[in-house]
Amino acid sequence: MSSSRTAPEDTAYVADPAPGHGALRPARSWLHSDAPALSLNGPWRFRLSPTARVAADFAAGAFDDGGWDTIPVPSHWVLQGDGAYGRPHYTNVQFPFPIDPPHVPDENPTGDYRRRFTVPAEWAGAERVVLRFDGVESLFRVWVNGEEVGAASGSRLAHEFDVTAAVRPGDNVVAVRVHQWSAASYVEDQDQWWLPGIFRDVTLHARPAGGIEDVWLRTGFAAGRGGIDPEITADPAAFPVTLRVPELGIEEVWATPADVAPLDAGAVQPWTAEQPRLYEATVTSAAETVTVRLGFRTVEIRGDRFLVNGRRVVFHGMNRHEAHPERGRVFDEEHARADLARMKRFNVNAIRTSHYPPHPRLLDLADELGFWVVLECDLETHGFDAVGWTGNPSDDPAWREAYLDRVERTVERDKNHPSIVMWSLGNEAGSGDNLAAMSAWVHARDSGRPVHYEGDYTGDYTDVYSRMYASVRESEQIGTDGSRAPLLGCTPAQGARQRTKPFVLCEYAHAMGNGPGGLDAYEELTRTHPRLHGGFVWEWRDHGIAATAPDGTPFFAYGGDFGEVVHDGNFVMDGMLLSDDVPTPSLHEFKAVVQPVRFTFADGVVEIANQRHSADTSDLRLCWRVEHDGAVVADGVLEAPVVAAGGTAVLPLPPIPVAADAETWFTVDAVLASATAWADAGHVVASAQLDRSAPRPVPAARARGDWRPAEGTLALGVAEFAGGSLVRLAGRPVTGPRLELFRAPTDNDEGAEVDPDADANVAGASHAALWRRDGLDRLTTRRMSVECADGALRTVDRVSAANSGRWVTVESVWSLDGDALELRVEATPSRGWSTVWPRIGIHLELPDGERPVDGVEWFGTGPLESYPDSMRAARTGRFAAGVAEWGVPYARPQESGHRSALRELTLTSGGTGVLVVTALPDTRGRRPGFTLSRHTPQQIARAGHPFELPAGTASHLIVDAAQHGLGSRACGPDVAPEFALRPEARTLRLRLRAV
Ligand code: GAL
Repeated sequence: MSSSRTAPEDTAYVADPAPGHGALRPARSWLHSDAPALSLNGPWRFRLSPTARVAADFAAGAFDDGGWDTIPVPSHWVLQGDGAYGRPHYTNVQFPFPIDPPHVPDENPTGDYRRRFTVPAEWAGAERVVLRFDGVESLFRVWVNGEEVGAASGSRLAHEFDVTAAVRPGDNVVAVRVHQWSAASYVEDQDQWWLPGIFRDVTLHARPAGGIEDVWLRTGFAAGRGGIDPEITADPAAFPVTLRVPELGIEEVWATPADVAPLDAGAVQPWTAEQPRLYEATVTSAAETVTVRLGFRTVEIRGDRFLVNGRRVVFHGMNRHEAHPERGRVFDEEHARADLARMKRFNVNAIRTSHYPPHPRLLDLADELGFWVVLECDLETHGFDAVGWTGNPSDDPAWREAYLDRVERTVERDKNHPSIVMWSLGNEAGSGDNLAAMSAWVHARDSGRPVHYEGDYTGDYTDVYSRMYASVRESEQIGTDGSRAPLLGCTPAQGARQRTKPFVLCEYAHAMGNGPGGLDAYEELTRTHPRLHGGFVWEWRDHGIAATAPDGTPFFAYGGDFGEVVHDGNFVMDGMLLSDDVPTPSLHEFKAVVQPVRFTFADGVVEIANQRHSADTSDLRLCWRVEHDGAVVADGVLEAPVVAAGGTAVLPLPPIPVAADAETWFTVDAVLASATAWADAGHVVASAQLDRSAPRPVPAARARGDWRPAEGTLALGVAEFAGGSLVRLAGRPVTGPRLELFRAPTDNDEGAEVDPDADANVAGASHAALWRRDGLDRLTTRRMSVECADGALRTVDRVSAANSGRWVTVESVWSLDGDALELRVEATPSRGWSTVWPRIGIHLELPDGERPVDGVEWFGTGPLESYPDSMRAARTGRFAAGVAEWGVPYARPQESGHRSALRELTLTSGGTGVLVVTALPDTRGRRPGFTLSRHTPQQIARAGHPFELPAGTASHLIVDAAQHGLGSRACGPDVAPEFALRPEARTLRLRLRAV
């Protein structure tokens, strides 16, 4: 061990790939024990240096830290002190330092921490005193009373040091030096903020003589019975040791270590993510009792099936990072519990702990609330991609010990959790012998859980076939027996081997900004191809950091907002939850797509299919209602038998009163009959709608022959025109309607992934770039004609962009039909448009004046936004919303808020109706969608953050004959061809009247 007076230049250990040195204890479970422990969380003295090359003078017990600052532990120093200790740094793949492994720059922020603590007199009898760190980023050295006890790396892993010889009863000092960068940073290159510091708990443990050092109670379940396979790590002198499971009447006494043997737990209820039945067990020696919660389940791979308790699992999963706008990766149990409860409410049944072990308590919560967990090791070396993977630690013997240490710490800490059904070696670390060695170690240690690692494309050392962002078509080819389609990185023989394994998408459906579209196509595959076991959405939440704009407006910062030298912008804002926990529409879509109960309507009946893993439907009630144009006219509860998992039942529908002059919709909701740990009674788990509307003819557009040139002013119903242009509607000034082909590009529209399934002409260039090239955001108009007839006005415009030889001809016909004023718009593109279009809409600008339009009530689909490839959460009904809450405040402003299949809307001002717009379907029955906004698409497209949007001076109503789908091209497949909008002729028919 080195001396406490480290010379300033003695920093070689910072570049040492070895995982640590000194009095490190072997990894063990994170146990709930009655042995004494002392939390060292709280205020610590703190000093930040810009480099590691500073004398470690502070380690001495007598050092005077009176001039130091105070910082809370746990925390990240870059999120403390309002910038006084540096700022967070975001990169995805890029290393924020030169690729010079295992070295890091001299500019290496180094935090020195000190605190005093009192060792209780009663601890004098302890056999050992252990100092535990649950998470320190990235490398740290520890001294107790001036004596160095060791150093360790592995930021999201637990480390325990034996400090018995260094502590004394009464007053003590612990000093910790933390380096932001170290050799370990090369293997912790996950897509997230770099957040240094002691960010998880620090505790001191008195280990009693005769204590239980570690316990592993492996469980199994078969044929209604549970089994326990115990492993007790304790000094032989600790025996006898007793296992008790009071609920099962188990009291097993092992007199010696040799007596510890598997036992039959008798008849038990199994543990599943749906019914997370836990039994409390204790393991007791004379000196210590530890408590473990048992969940009886057996995980196995049989052929190409991934089974728990003999039944196939379909993962409806989320990749979950630990991220919080103020705390970063610091754990908060209440927030985590609320987070997981929210997942349950949105039908999420699985979590991949991307890309490192979470705080250990998270697994307790997962056991309790019920999730299938893929527990991932803290490992990623993605930045080596930039140098062709040269020097990748995954294949370098110098790193073998570190890799094994990481996986050992991962598995040992969390091995008792029934929720963990797979171990994952890490993420995006290339391939190599060290990964294979990790896998071998896990297989030898835990035969009860398969090993996952996506980067093992050829399946040399992993048990499941895993991919990220495979397209629907490719996933289908993986799931299809006899398919010979080549698999990524595989020879035909390797591909054939991969097809013998269960397949998971460890990441899919990149949820950046508005999107993803096409979720339902993936879900459908899991029903038709049993080898496909679902997957894990990328990702659960945005990682925005709470920040304040120069004008004081709060916002969520992303890459570049802290002046980082290299960064990856808003790629860190790709969750189904916004940074402040607000579910985006994509999460509602996910919930609807994966709903575990499915309804199929047929003549007078509904079939309900229970698609759960193993739970029956006894927890659900089927509530129904009938609506006429969105107003409830009848409701009730369907009498339904209990349907077993995998089963179906056919129920008669109640009599449905069908309206003659309104749409008739029947809705059925499967709701929780009673409250659970994660939702109230009445919570909707699954839902479906049936359209029982009587057919009603759409009035034909009136053909006219009496057109004559028009000039001057004209009034038609609610509209007033000057020189052929609309100037007032319902007495209010307006601008437009004008053709709108542009939408503020979504992150997926900006995506330029080369997508194997995309049209050849767009692969490699983002749609947004092509839209800008073609000038869709800067259209100009030339009026070609203005004509009128009795009670009618017709204009023809040619709409085009600077330096473009393509145009759209827009014919608008206004005509009175009784009280209603109809506007029919025909938009017809010229030849030569080569890309997809974001939308074909008409844009009406409503300046604020005295009574700004600030809301809308509508009959159509809602309540949230929907797009052609994201329609499953949208239901038909009557809704209302204010313009301020209309769109989603994505971290980077973009297209948002489109409501599909509009029937009728009423613009409102202060709750009073201003204008009613009725939308007629086109001749193919297609209905328009609409958006209300305080900004134009062009204004939205220019803003990098919500606070950059100008103060709105008008409300904008855009009615779209069509919108392009969303896709997932920010990182994954483009919009599927059937949801892509090609330039084509479209008709809009709207009827307008004053309220
Ligand atoms: C994956 C990676 C994730 C994340 C995602 C894109 O390649 O595993 O960590 O970067 O892409 O957001």
